[in-house]
Amino acid sequence: MALTRRAGGALELGGVALSELVQDARIATPAYVYDLDAIAAGARALREAFDGAPHLVAYAIKANSAGHIVQTLVAEGCGADVVSGAELVLALRCGVEADRIVYSGVAKTDAELDLAIGAGPHGIKAIQVESVEEIPRIAARAKAAGRTARVSLRINPGVDAEALDTHSYIATGHDDAKFGVPVSSVPDALALLESEGVKGAVRLVGVGAHVGSQFTTTDAYESSAKVVFDLARSLRGRFALDFVDGGGGFGIDYGEGCQASPPDFIRAARALQKEMSVDDLAFYCEPGRSLVGAHGVLVARVIQRKESLRSDVVRRWMMIDAGMNDLMRPALYQARHRIVPAVDPGGERRAYRVVGPVCESSDDFGIHELPAAPFDEVVILDAGAYGHSMASRYNGRPLPAEAFLKGGAVAHVKLRKPIEDWVDDRLGA
Ligand code: LLP
Repeated sequence: MALTRRAGGALELGGVALSELVQDARIATPAYVYDLDAIAAGARALREAFDGAPHLVAYAIKANSAGHIVQTLVAEGCGADVVSGAELVLALRCGVEADRIVYSGVAKTDAELDLAIGAGPHGIKAIQVESVEEIPRIAARAKAAGRTARVSLRINPGVDAEALDTHSYIATGHDDAKFGVPVSSVPDALALLESEGVKGAVRLVGVGAHVGSQFTTTDAYESSAKVVFDLARSLRGRFALDFVDGGGGFGIDYGEGCQASPPDFIRAARALQKEMSVDDLAFYCEPGRSLVGAHGVLVARVIQRKESLRSDVVRRWMMIDAGMNDLMRPALYQARHRIVPAVDPGGERRAYRVVGPVCESSDDFGIHELPAAPFDEVVILDAGAYGHSMASRYNGRPLPAEAFLKGGAVAHVKLRKPIEDWVDDRLGA
């Protein structure tokens, strides 16, 4: 467990007391703090679940694009799943080989396709095709570059939206989602890939799916993998596939439990792969949240408390210096993150609604039982994924600082930009 509480009540992550860390003026709150050692260990455990079988753990950079995190995962043998030209360039600059990058996205621009096709000696491993309509566009760009673009079909397996045990905003593998080639359109996609104008410019190397995020059991992942494996099997002799891709979506425990661990998802998919006789193909997965979520926290200062009494109801708020612009998940998905004091003064607990400074009612982290006695900082747990990467500068707020821990000490710090930076930007300076 990377998070522990010292005898005096101070919470530490990766061996560093968070309250002491934010005394460093460079890491003034709000600050994200990440444990690089725990991130590396998680990646190692996930790769071990493959038991030596050919695989690629393509880290979904969108979950957290900090270079130190991507580099940590690259050192553990991970590749990358990217969703924009910018993420692609970042992955390459972090040392991910082009051959270990897959690129998903429903609306890739020509400029982005050019980056993917032009990367490395042979372009990236696979541009994940998300519509039939995208295929001729990729072929045209590949011809212009004088290269063959490797693609995989990201299918939409049409898993019943209700059956996807996750928030509707992050469920992607159902009929009404914009993602992936619907199963009913797969024959058209295949015919197009074999057609004269396209063959030669585009080569199909894989099939895959990503049906959603934050799954706490392996059920939806397995249902989707079954559809993918079935398709892969039916393509034998017709296309020379290298891999099948199960996507990401492995959940983490935000406090309400999580039945399946990331290696459980891999073991389930691998067993199915064997059962369906497609285990000669490499298995790719695209985890984001599960590699980084639990290993990052957001530390915020308590600005003040507020109390009101009306009709015998006492309401208590705790105002902190982190807002929905710093961690958007509660406002966007009604997500709940546990919040605890950085140094626990002990004693009586009271229910406080923890809120940020942003002028929106949704700038609200929910009600938490916190000490009635004063304390200086709170720690918002499990903020390593989709925290900083979704942060904005709304209300003129600078992006939060980031500190990266390694070997029980601060290894890198990313400073918070001064407010003048935002002011200059808005003035067009
Ligand atoms: N692959 C594809 C094609 C994806 O769209 C995603 C996430 C992933 C992989 C990684 O999924 P993960 O392993 O992280 O579940 N912002 C939301 C999550 C959005 C997920 C979008 N796609 C949140 O904070 O819960």
